[in-house]
Parts: sequence; structure tokens; C-alpha cells
Amino acid sequence: MNNRSLVSIDDFSTEEIISTLDLAEQFEKEPVQKLLEGKVIATLFFEPSTRTRLSFESAINKLGGKIVGFTDASSSSVTKGESLHDTIRMVSSYSDLIVMRHPIEGSARYASEVASVPVINAGDGANQHPTQTMLDLYSIRKTQGTLDNLNIFMVGDLKYGRTVHSLMMAMSRWNTVFNFIAPEELKMPDEFKLYLDNLGLKYYEHSDFNDIISKADIIYMTRVQKERFSDPIDYEKVKNIYVLRNSMLENTKPTMRILHPLPRVNEISPDVDSNPKAYYFKQALNGVFTRQAIICKLLNIK
Ligand code: CP
Repeated sequence: MNNRSLVSIDDFSTEEIISTLDLAEQFEKEPVQKLLEGKVIATLFFEPSTRTRLSFESAINKLGGKIVGFTDASSSSVTKGESLHDTIRMVSSYSDLIVMRHPIEGSARYASEVASVPVINAGDGANQHPTQTMLDLYSIRKTQGTLDNLNIFMVGDLKYGRTVHSLMMAMSRWNTVFNFIAPEELKMPDEFKLYLDNLGLKYYEHSDFNDIISKADIIYMTRVQKERFSDPIDYEKVKNIYVLRNSMLENTKPTMRILHPLPRVNEISPDVDSNPKAYYFKQALNGVFTRQAIICKLLNIK
């Protein structure tokens, strides 16, 4: 792998994804290694984040690298009118790799074309979140023992949810059966369904999942994202549409696990947290090891 960017999960071949997951397993066993000594990583967050930014920063610190950047574009010269182009050109000359979250779809691809160093997309609007996908794949393989032939339920905001878009594209490589559970307003966009159609993969769309929950290997819950709605009334109509409760899990497979990219609002009831099938907090921890692996892959550090 040459010095290149991770903008979409499709930027990595299946072999590269598997070798990244294998490397993450090694980091889980030994997370503190001085592999990034002398490296400077820029973290540019134009949108709020807790997990992605802090797990990247934890990953970099554990590997001995240094971090520059901002957590809020209002503290940068963007407020003076500086373009994304010029911001990325400048930050490229101060760092060895850029991690960027931005509200505009396509911004990460644009940044990767302008930058002279690798760019990692930490989420671009409703488009993609490939490092979340890598930690999701890691979590699925760890809990199921395989990525092959699984039945995945994706629940909630499938329209604006960049994590489900990236995960669906990735899991399509392993003969997954997809069940999409969303209200009419938040259904999986046609372009992603077409993606599966072209691969000949099965997907089913539902407005509820109580009756079919026993079939799930993974239930991937998502938040209805208030910040993506232009009309607050539209958000109010769907914000509480799905709430996963402990009582709903009785007839689920013993091996089934519940994932969520987090943050949650109220789509998973707190009474689920102590159920052994709840995996979302461990999933977030896996973000440190997978992001360590992604950085090392992109910087060609063995
Ligand atoms: N999963 C995720 O992207 O969380 P943050 O928005 O807190 O980074």
C-alpha cells in the first residue's frame, strides 16, 4: 500500500481490510508501541465529535505521535474566509497525515486530491465514515467469529446515516443479507440499494422489526440525526420511531450482538446496557485499535 488516503471504505481492497483488522488485533494485545515517533498527525474537526476524535488522538498518543489541529473550525482561519483548499494545502505542510471530519459530502475526497499527505475521512456529511466501518467490521468479526453469511439489521436513520452507508458497502463483500428498518422518510437511498442490486445481494425493507428480530446476527441501531433535518417538524415526527428495549431481546439468537456507532439519544433503552448482547461500548473501544492500524497502513509503518 503506497501513501494514500482512506476516503471511502471502497478505497481498501478486501485483502487490505482483512490485513487492517489483523493488525488491529495485534494493537489490541499491545496498544503502546513507539511506531509514530517523529510523526505529526493533524486532526481537523469541522463538525463535533467525541469518539472519532478522541479515539484517533488516543491511538496516536499510544503510538508516540504528536497531534496538531482544531476541534472547532471557529478557532481556525476558516472564519476569516480561508477555503478548504488553502487550509488543506497549509496543513499538509505541517503534518504527515490529516484526519478530517467535515459536514459537506465529498469534502474528504476533495481534500485528498489537494493534500500532499494521506487524508483519512472521519465523516463527510451524510456520505461515508470509513474508519467507523473498520471498527464495526472488527467488532462484527470479533463477536461472530466471521464476516461471512451474516444477517444484519440496520435500524433507524438509513437516509442520512453515513455509518450505515459505509458498513453496507463493506459488508456486501461477505455475502451478507441486509434487513433495512426505517420509516418512509429515512429509508436507505436508492443509490445504495442499486449498489446491492448490481452485486446480486439480497436486502429487505421493513417499517418494524419485532416479528423478525430472532433472525438477526447483528442489530445495528442508529440515531435519528437532528442536525441533518432542515425542518424541525420533520425531525419531531420520526425522532422516537424505534426504541430497542431489553424485553424485545428474549427471542434473539444467543450470539446476536447489538451495535451502535454512538452517540445514542433514546433509540436504545438504558435497560439494554447490562444485557450481554449489548456491544456498543466495547465497539467504541475497538476504534482505538482499528485507527492505530489504519494510520500505520497509510503511513506504510510495519
Ligand atoms: N461514531 C461517531 O462518529 O461518534 P462521534 O460523532 O462522537 O465521533
